[in-house]
Amino acid sequence: MANLEKRVPANVLGEFFVDTTCIDCDTCRQIAPQVFGETVGTAFVHAQPQTAVDRKRALYALVCCPTGSIGSSGSDDPKSVMTDFPLLIEEPVYYCGFNSPKSYGGNSYFIRSSHGNWMIDSPKFLPPLVRKLESLGGIANIFLTHRDDVADAQKFARHFGSRRFIHQAELKSQPDAEVVLEGTEPLELAPGFLAIPTPGHTAGHMVLLSQDRFLFTGDHLDYDRDEQRLAASHDYCWYSWPQQIESIEKLASFHFEWVLPGHGQRVHLPADEMRRQLVELGRRMRLDR
Ligand SMILES: [Fe+2]
Repeated sequence: MANLEKRVPANVLGEFFVDTTCIDCDTCRQIAPQVFGETVGTAFVHAQPQTAVDRKRALYALVCCPTGSIGSSGSDDPKSVMTDFPLLIEEPVYYCGFNSPKSYGGNSYFIRSSHGNWMIDSPKFLPPLVRKLESLGGIANIFLTHRDDVADAQKFARHFGSRRFIHQAELKSQPDAEVVLEGTEPLELAPGFLAIPTPGHTAGHMVLLSQDRFLFTGDHLDYDRDEQRLAASHDYCWYSWPQQIESIEKLASFHFEWVLPGHGQRVHLPADEMRRQLVELGRRMRLDR
């Protein structure tokens, strides 16, 4: 629960505010950029919502903030929006919401599939979300991109009887995972679902390509809102930057139009533009060695 007495001084006056417990994970800015901005090491309210749509987005951000750092003095009950999750991105892909502090506020996603639904990385295990996922057919498969973002995956797997996929090099974070992948070659997990090992951020990092359209990138690749281009983080590369460069370059041989990251901004681009930006990113990363 956010504390008004700890409000960040940069907040503009009004009903919504961010307090000093914020970990600057970017969740609120991704959900409601009209309301939340970034100042040094923290989010803050740069504009109070002016429309019903913006107000609802601000409430979404409030309930998804992993550290409960967003408050509101308004009359809306934040619980009223919790049953809206997961939020549709583009059929059949949804954003789960309820980012977990265990994954430093990482995003997780849900995919509806006639062969069994998927979850990519894990949100908080919360009853409103669990009930909604039950109504959508449950979760047959949980794809874990890497060790940092497993959060409550074990609870979801036990509740739904899901199979968890993780790379052998990340197994310490989920030692009882049902399916352990090895090596560096892409592997089809089900029709239209391809696991692509992308070592770099961590040794066993993997991305998931769905329908040659949606690429779930964990902490391997995201989108820089300011520069408006694909990006990868050298500062948050825990294992090998040279290997992360090779893994980025490898992705240029795949076809996709969406990048859906764990941390950072998602983006939808034409496949040709996506490939062009990937090649350009690889060049920049080599200069940054
Ligand atoms: Fe990570």
